[in-house]
Amino acid sequence: MKTLRFTTLPGDGIGPEVMDVALKVLQKLGNLYDFSIETSGHDVGGIGIDNHGKALPDSTLEACKKVDAILFGSVGGPKWENLPPKEQPERAALLPIRKAFGLFANLRPGNLYPELSDLSPLRADTVANGIDTLCVRELTGGIYFGQPKETTVLENGEKQAIDTMVYRTSEIERITELAIKAAELRNGRICSVDKANVLETSVLWRETVINCVQKHNPDIELSHMYVDNAAMQLVRDPNQFDVLLTENMFGDILSDELAVICGSLGMLASASLGTQKNDAGLPFGLYEPAGGTAPDIAGKGLANPCAQVLSAALMLRYSFGLEGAATSIENAVKESIRSGLRTGDIAMGGDPVGTDQMGNAIIDNLK
Ligand code: IPM
Ligand code: MG
Repeated sequence: MKTLRFTTLPGDGIGPEVMDVALKVLQKLGNLYDFSIETSGHDVGGIGIDNHGKALPDSTLEACKKVDAILFGSVGGPKWENLPPKEQPERAALLPIRKAFGLFANLRPGNLYPELSDLSPLRADTVANGIDTLCVRELTGGIYFGQPKETTVLENGEKQAIDTMVYRTSEIERITELAIKAAELRNGRICSVDKANVLETSVLWRETVINCVQKHNPDIELSHMYVDNAAMQLVRDPNQFDVLLTENMFGDILSDELAVICGSLGMLASASLGTQKNDAGLPFGLYEPAGGTAPDIAGKGLANPCAQVLSAALMLRYSFGLEGAATSIENAVKESIRSGLRTGDIAMGGDPVGTDQMGNAIIDNLK
């Protein structure tokens, strides 16, 4: 029997309660698909600051180094909002963990089930059949990490701040190779988003993406779009995109846009994949829901557990190679929604159920 080794970092707010559901789902699924889980929980985010003085405590980082994947909850909340930006739980936990594990690829599936299409802010006829798009965002390069990155005082006394956007070919190649693999499992189309009419990094990006697709799979239908146009096209007709491939900051912005047009953050999962490979030759990864900590409903048993559960599905798929088990989770979530169950965030005025009721329905629907 296969043993899945991963840490759980539930974090703050609703993190712990939705993480509980995800673990129950994995436990049940293990019986059906013949795997066991070996997991331990660790502090991250605000609770890391409270208990260890750091959003990403050393003990948490060490524990993560011993496993094949991280199932992440969500971090932050009003209690830590007044800290300086660099110490805020989100930034101080997520950016160093991405760097520590070389998590260069961020996959954010934008899924809207047709049953929930009323949740989307887009026009009904645009989303009648739902949305199914995958955003592949480069996560450890570009303007987020480039040097110099500093604020200095000029001779005349005014301040000047600099961020630097840097990309090298190898960084663009590895994310493109991943986008190609993802597109091969979908409809074989990649739209690469850049700003090649203005930015040097984008000129290199476009050239490298073209060469890389030519080399690895010339059958991929590759197109290119400037980022301003892509932002517009995404609301005009989101389903024109199969895989959206883009650099770090453009991906940050476009993936939030994709999330909102999909209606509920409570339904969206994400995967961040690293350079390290585990024993099975699969990538180490961090899996997290797209939504936040929802402090207003934390601890009340009202949170939507779907995004956390779907993040666990991505973990099975990408870090453990268990495609069947991953699909089983995704189908169980779909089935639970189809049966009419809705947590408050997706209830649209109907009668909402709680976290456990939604979780139990998902568990019952696993096949
Ligand atoms: C995200 C977040 C982070 C980012 C922040 C919290 C640093 O917005 O994961 O998209 O910008 O990458
Ligand atoms: Mg973001």
